[in-house]
Amino acid sequence: MPLGTNRRLDRANNIADLRRLARRALPRPIFDYIDGGADDEWTLARNSTAFTDYELIPDVLTDVSAIRTATSLFGQPVSAPVMLAPTGLTRMFHPEAELAVARAAAKHGLLYSLSTLGTTRLEDLAAAVGGPKVFQIYIFKDRGLTAEFVARCKAAGFHGLALTVDTPVAGNRERDRVNGLSLPPKLTWKSILSFAAHPSWSLPALRGSRFDFANVSHKVDALAAGPMSLFDYIGGQFDRSLTWRDVEWLAAEWGGPLAVKGLMTAEDAKRAIGCGATGVMVSNHGGRQLDGAPAPIDQIAAVRGALGDGPDVICDGGIRRGSDVIKALALGATACSIGRPYLYGLAAGGEAGVDRALTLLIEELERTLALAGVIDVAKLERRHVRARRNMA
Ligand code: FNR
Repeated sequence: MPLGTNRRLDRANNIADLRRLARRALPRPIFDYIDGGADDEWTLARNSTAFTDYELIPDVLTDVSAIRTATSLFGQPVSAPVMLAPTGLTRMFHPEAELAVARAAAKHGLLYSLSTLGTTRLEDLAAAVGGPKVFQIYIFKDRGLTAEFVARCKAAGFHGLALTVDTPVAGNRERDRVNGLSLPPKLTWKSILSFAAHPSWSLPALRGSRFDFANVSHKVDALAAGPMSLFDYIGGQFDRSLTWRDVEWLAAEWGGPLAVKGLMTAEDAKRAIGCGATGVMVSNHGGRQLDGAPAPIDQIAAVRGALGDGPDVICDGGIRRGSDVIKALALGATACSIGRPYLYGLAAGGEAGVDRALTLLIEELERTLALAGVIDVAKLERRHVRARRNMA
């Protein structure tokens, strides 16, 4: 770890500080890959700013000497209603990659999800790290590959699956185009200069293992064909003809906790549960897919209203503060899911950086609960949050 990293992490007071550290630590094309969104990045921005449309309404003079944040997700006990969202290509951001993230999550008793497009084999991750784990699955044109994943996840002891449904085609990430981010990165003068300024980005790193889709590379012939853009890769492998019948198929094949990730409406949430899912992740892929989509937080009350008490409703996207989590819970979410907040930490300082991101968010969560006069996340109610613009 570079000298001074721990000191810098300790001085980070919030997720925005970790983002600044990540920006300094990474070559520009890699930072932009994490930080950016689709088209005009309207949805990316809206995901976070929408939280400011809600006010927290505190109860005073309640005894808050013992705060409880424990809950359950995907049928697993977790220490707090915050899960780590799946993110592909994690090794690009730090050589410790998914293992660092999963270890920090396990240390905090939080649920970790591994992406199909991760850079660590699911078996290796399960063997190395305890704690509650979910595998994020895509349905490939080759259904055999998807069925193989289900069998591998069962054998490795994953507790749940999250089926991502908001990527029928790749989103238009213009920052990546401008930066020439392909797999591996195109070596233009601009990109060489930007990578050369970062010691961990030697030429071999640019050419090799930091882009290994460890879980699929044995199957996907196209990858062996040489450099190609991420957009082409995704466009080529995912099945655009997916329908709800495929959700039914996956639910039956898996037979355990399953969340549909990437839906936005009460109607689709009901269909997901009707097809055998046990939960939903209300998400627009962190603003990386459909620009113009609403913020997840604005959809939570309607989705919970449609599903009733049972299923997991996870608010995914835009969470940067513990108070955001409290707002989502008061509106009806079971938990929130975070992507960039822990990736900024990872880029800033590997496992210690992820640990810092989680510590900050959990401390904020506990402090906000105490200030709101609520002793247990399970006791948050609709009356604890008020929409400022008649939105919920
Ligand atoms: C993602 N996300 C994502 N989702 C998914 O289902 N499979 C994946 O492989 C990825 N990969 C990925 C990479 C990067 C760099 C980011 C930032 C995001 C989306 C992710 O799971 C989650 O939905 C968002 O990150 C949530 O928004 P915030 O927390 O980043 O605002």
